[in-house]
Amino acid sequence: MNEPCALVIFGSTGNLARNKLLPALYHLEAAGQLAGPTRILGFGRRNWSDGDWQAEVERALAERARGGLDPEVLRRLAARLQFVSGDLTEPEAFVRLRERLRGDGGMPVNRVFYLAVAPSHYGEVAELLAAEGLNDQSDGWSRLVVEKPFGFDLESAQILDERLHRRFGEDQIYRIDHYLGKSTVQNVLVFRFANLMLEPLWNRNYIDHVQISHGEARGIEERAGFYDGVGAMRDMIQSHLLQMLTLVAMEPPPSLDAEALRDEKVKVLRSIRPIPRQAVHAHAFRAQYRAGELKGAKVPGYLEEPGVGHNSATETYAALKLYIDNWRWRNVPFYLRTGKRLAATNSLIAIRFKHPPQQLFRHTAIEQLEPNWLLLNIQPNECMRVEIQVKQPGLQMRTQTERLDASTCTLGSSQIDAYEALILDVIEGDHSLFLRYDEVNWAWRVVDPVLKLWATERDFIQTYSAGTWGPGEANRLFDRDDQDWRNGLDG
Ligand code: BG6
Repeated sequence: MNEPCALVIFGSTGNLARNKLLPALYHLEAAGQLAGPTRILGFGRRNWSDGDWQAEVERALAERARGGLDPEVLRRLAARLQFVSGDLTEPEAFVRLRERLRGDGGMPVNRVFYLAVAPSHYGEVAELLAAEGLNDQSDGWSRLVVEKPFGFDLESAQILDERLHRRFGEDQIYRIDHYLGKSTVQNVLVFRFANLMLEPLWNRNYIDHVQISHGEARGIEERAGFYDGVGAMRDMIQSHLLQMLTLVAMEPPPSLDAEALRDEKVKVLRSIRPIPRQAVHAHAFRAQYRAGELKGAKVPGYLEEPGVGHNSATETYAALKLYIDNWRWRNVPFYLRTGKRLAATNSLIAIRFKHPPQQLFRHTAIEQLEPNWLLLNIQPNECMRVEIQVKQPGLQMRTQTERLDASTCTLGSSQIDAYEALILDVIEGDHSLFLRYDEVNWAWRVVDPVLKLWATERDFIQTYSAGTWGPGEANRLFDRDDQDWRNGLDG
């Protein structure tokens, strides 16, 4: 069993806590993964008692518990819940927190501080915790969990990191990228390194290009306060999509321990060819959704979303072309793409192979030989598919694409949310699925030139109709005319 701890959630009434953290804790409770004395403390501005917070948690869980709320699990979870009322910037609130954490004899000595708040508060909260000695590890451990984006750009990430490190050691800091907690994303590693078959093909000699795309049908929901000014490049590409790229492109690590794994990921990020300012438009594309239709219903444009500035040029769609300058990948384009209010919600890694070297079928009825694809669908359902060419039955020499589907297609979506796995890892002290600062730093270096140029071009942004796959102009990133986006397994 894990060690018991006091888990403090800053931002306990926010979106992330409601949608992800509390349901994850509930499911960990249901699975018997929380040690008996573990406590969960909400920290927030509301003037709530423990009872108010328990009622609020129950409301949040009512719609989100898998298979419905189990009263017995809820009762066990509620017994762990306490609330500390206070403002994030108010030192006295941290005195109250310390008293709560030290006062009760049953309170565990190990602590997790989960910062589910705006990134601009991370530095200050770390300092206020330290001022109360809550970073101290002489009696039990103390861990700080920070969400992405870590910083706003390279420079601010560096400043933030130095600020955190003044109070917390690297072994205490857990930088979350929840994509690494998805079992389907972890499966990329298993797929690559538990199978020998593809390894000889996994390089520039056989692969034409790689696409990593994440589409969402939903808009920004009530997150304008966070999203406006952040945009798709920082929100998705700098973190989740670049992480997926590292898993696809990395060399086999000497072992699966946290440092070995992260060393290899950093090598990939360091090898990404820097994008010079004058080449930004050839490598990156951004756009914003306007009003449109999704599943027959009219949906508003980004500028009409509550809380968005009326002339905001924040991108809700971003695409990026990268090259990895190493022996395995030199000159193979990696196309990354993400968008909100697209036609469907789907995440896919699509690998297109080159054409065979000899055009043996040139003088037959085969007009154009389709390339092979390997498709790793990440969500909503996990699936692996290989597209190969076979001869059509009949007298003529014609081909058709045959699909080899891995049986995982039938498994449906994963039953375990990434946050369950990640919270457990924090409690167990396993850093493998968390970002080391150098990863964050190199990821910022990749996107920084693009963000810098875009920041100077705030007067105009292309738009796309909500409910479509984004603007056709994004195709200008492709190296050749025969390359095109794969929107899902079938398209
Ligand atoms: C978050 C982003 O990190 O990831 C959101 O801030 C995005 O904008 C979300 O919607 C996507 O995560 P998932 O797990 O729903 O694919």
